[in-house]
Amino acid sequence: MTTTPELYEMQEYGELGVVPKSMHAWVIKKNRFGEPLQALKQDVVPTPVIDDNQVLVRVMAVGVNYNTVWAGLGQPISVFTLHDKDYHITGSDASGIVWQVGKNVKNCKVGDEVIVTCFKQCMEHGNGGLNNPNFVSFDPMSSVNHAIMGYETPDGSNAQFVAAQAQQILPKPKHLSWEDAASYVLTYFTAYRMLMTQAEIKSGELVLIWGGAGGLGSYAIQLCREAGADCIAVVSSDEKGEFCKKLGALGYINRKEFKGYEVTDAEFNHYETMANNDRRHQMMKAIGKRIWEICGQKRSPDVVFEHSGRETFATSIFLAARFGRIVICGATTGYDLSFDVRHLWMHQKRILGSHYANFLDCRQANTLITKGKVEVINSRTYSYRDLPQAHDDLYNNKIIGNASVLVMPGDIRGLKTREEIEARFLNASKESSLPA
Ligand SMILES: NC(=O)c1ccc[n+]([C@@H]2O[C@H](COP(=O)([O-])OP(=O)(O)OC[C@H]3O[C@@H](n4cnc5c(N)ncnc54)[C@H](OP(=O)(O)O)[C@@H]3O)[C@@H](O)[C@H]2O)c1
Repeated sequence: MTTTPELYEMQEYGELGVVPKSMHAWVIKKNRFGEPLQALKQDVVPTPVIDDNQVLVRVMAVGVNYNTVWAGLGQPISVFTLHDKDYHITGSDASGIVWQVGKNVKNCKVGDEVIVTCFKQCMEHGNGGLNNPNFVSFDPMSSVNHAIMGYETPDGSNAQFVAAQAQQILPKPKHLSWEDAASYVLTYFTAYRMLMTQAEIKSGELVLIWGGAGGLGSYAIQLCREAGADCIAVVSSDEKGEFCKKLGALGYINRKEFKGYEVTDAEFNHYETMANNDRRHQMMKAIGKRIWEICGQKRSPDVVFEHSGRETFATSIFLAARFGRIVICGATTGYDLSFDVRHLWMHQKRILGSHYANFLDCRQANTLITKGKVEVINSRTYSYRDLPQAHDDLYNNKIIGNASVLVMPGDIRGLKTREEIEARFLNASKESSLPA
């Protein structure tokens, strides 16, 4: 009979299906908010215990995401107001091997190679909200108690094991390494919902994409290409602009050349200055003209892809076409927004909120990766010990596209299957457990 091990070392494979009592994880604590290098520390914590509808995954790699940055900063809220644990494991996506399944789980089995998404469905209203008195739609995201793993819940994926609901599990695309498979899950699925489900982009439309070379933006460009829509990327360097063109953007706008369109904190706090800012108006118009130059005709964006927030939102509202849509999922530069609402009502534009993705969005998006229609942009893979550095680089806008962190494979890149992991680590852990 196998006894329950206390802990597996990082590269110790152990035995498939045998769960140790504790695990290594990157955690934040209440008294340690700050930038990633300060907030994130390695710790040993209890391994999650799954229920009948859940799956335990042995994590091979994770994505590098803003959820971890915000959780560490304690901004805009402390994650400790969202749960009652005294530590918080960060991480909202992963690739890995199914290690244990609850008895009701039908979509995967022990040993499967999978990716883990972060939308934890409300089990009470998980049918899409039908039992919910505030019923909005059949979308499970309309339910009241759903949560984003690793931000709204304390049991994120930046650890040796992660517990997920069965519906959070999708097959890992076979052609991808563990690190590539972990790199896209949060950002790409978010971009998919924003453009495909919420904004419903159509062939022939024009989309303006802020941060075109970023985590969300690099997938937004590819989704426009797939949908037959034209897109223009906004970036902060020509190098990033050329990268966006290679992904399929019609052209790019280097935002550094249009200084003055931004809503700064100082102006935000003095609305009069902001409302009367002719210079901003001139700069927003100049960006609009640049769009016409790129298009070769007077054309305004049918959709604006937003996540930068306060600094850019007034410009997004101004630039969108009549009846255009501004779809927004985040606010890197500030979540209190200020803009001239006349541009919205006079031209009947619509603002659409969007948040991560439901199971259907994730599945449809993942199929495009599996079929090779969307290319994974994993520009840098960090080793496990450098997870805080990876998030510091994200926070300081140093990552093009997306990045990932290897968990079990340590520094060994390019492994793709369970067999490859076992060949590399199973015997190594057996040898290291032999008596000296
Ligand atoms: N609600 C959700 O489900 C969800 C999911 C994922 C992400 N988000 C949020 O979306 C935001 C972006 O995430 P990400 O992973 O794409 O980050 P990212 O990889 O850092 O990309 C963001 C891009 O925004 C651009 N940017 C940075 N500062 C800017 C500014 N002041 N003005 C205009 N553009 C600026 C940068 O490009 P340039 O410097 O080249 O312009 C950067 O590449 C974050 O706030 C994140 O929390 C929300």
